[in-house]
Amino acid sequence: MLNVTGLFTQYVSDKGVVVQAAKDVSFEVPKGKLFTLLGPSGCGKTTTLRSIAGLERPTEGLIEVNGQAVYSSVKGVFTPPNRRGFGMVFQSYAIWPHMSVFQNASFPMEVGAKKFTKAEIKERVMRVLESVELAQYHDRDATRLSGGQQQRLALARALVMEPQLLLLDEPLSNLDAKLREKMRFELKKIQRELDITTIYVTHDQSEALALSHEIAVMSAGRIVQRGTPREIYEKPINNFVADFVGAINFIDATVKDMDLQRQVMVLDSEVGLIQLPIQENFKVADAVQVCVRPENVHLSDTPPSIDHANRYEGTVDQKIFLGEVLDFQVKIREKLILARVHPTQLTPINHPIHVYFDPRGCVVFKAQ
Ligand SMILES: Nc1ncnc2c1ncn2[C@@H]1O[C@H](COP(=O)(O)OP(=O)(O)OP(=O)(O)O)[C@@H](O)[C@H]1O
Ligand SMILES: [Mg+2]
Repeated sequence: MLNVTGLFTQYVSDKGVVVQAAKDVSFEVPKGKLFTLLGPSGCGKTTTLRSIAGLERPTEGLIEVNGQAVYSSVKGVFTPPNRRGFGMVFQSYAIWPHMSVFQNASFPMEVGAKKFTKAEIKERVMRVLESVELAQYHDRDATRLSGGQQQRLALARALVMEPQLLLLDEPLSNLDAKLREKMRFELKKIQRELDITTIYVTHDQSEALALSHEIAVMSAGRIVQRGTPREIYEKPINNFVADFVGAINFIDATVKDMDLQRQVMVLDSEVGLIQLPIQENFKVADAVQVCVRPENVHLSDTPPSIDHANRYEGTVDQKIFLGEVLDFQVKIREKLILARVHPTQLTPINHPIHVYFDPRGCVVFKAQ
């Protein structure tokens, strides 16, 4: 549905300094899917979104919607934003204070180039308000809504023109944690029900994992990795992505042995020997980094009965109770390892503990 190819966008400051904010950004989004641009502050997410919207003019690239170019540097095409037919919700969504909920939502239909009858407006606005569960408040003053309701009203206003593409820039960022989580579910439900192709921008990894069909992780203007939430989380391609999408342990190691017969490679690491399925791009003596997510570090008070590889003895250094999980910081040799376990694990601080890494939860990169 949406195809972005080789997009470059830059800003030139007053002093003539050029900032390359989007560099060779390419991706495609099939109809009805939610695609997320995820990355740290300043990595170029908003720039990419605004370029798609037509609010920034790229310097190079191609943006196509259903095979039609809305921007092409080669063909000299630039469709103005109001002719692209996209809906948008920005971080600082503006609810018009002196209007009712209904008037806020109907505004785009009143002022647009296309003329609608009163009956058409009423029918469509009420339908959209219904989908964001605000129909019962249609005649209420918009300022007399909670933060989450105002958020949904901003969404309703973006949806009322039935856009072919919905662009959302950190739409949940000014809600409190609890409401943000609730809105996440609602947004996902609305997006799936209306089957509306959506580009979502966030720097919040859990939001991205929860909402997306596909995620593109960005760094310094470029897409570093694209994949499903599971691929991004379980198979990060480098330590930037691994680190950005969740808590992780990095363990320095060198390759000690490549056992082709058993298809196992043995790594000599900060915590002891680690055995993992062989990876062909490594050779003996390579410096590597093993990444293990805290939920793949298993703890027990007694030594495991089976003779696993990847077992270590440590001591409990710190514990943090987080409600549904307990974070243990365990010291193995001189290395602190984070383990996220069930709160029934009761080992006291400074006591010995047995640690096991599940090899299926380990990812190895060449050291940088
Ligand atoms: N109008 C502008 N003029 C000059 N530089 C800009 C402008 N807007 C953004 N930039 C720069 O472009 C880069 C990318 O900015 P962008 O707003 O796309 O980042 P972002 O990923 O959306 O970050 P955030 O998560 O903080 O919103 C940054 O270095 C930023 O300082
Ligand atoms: Mg931004």
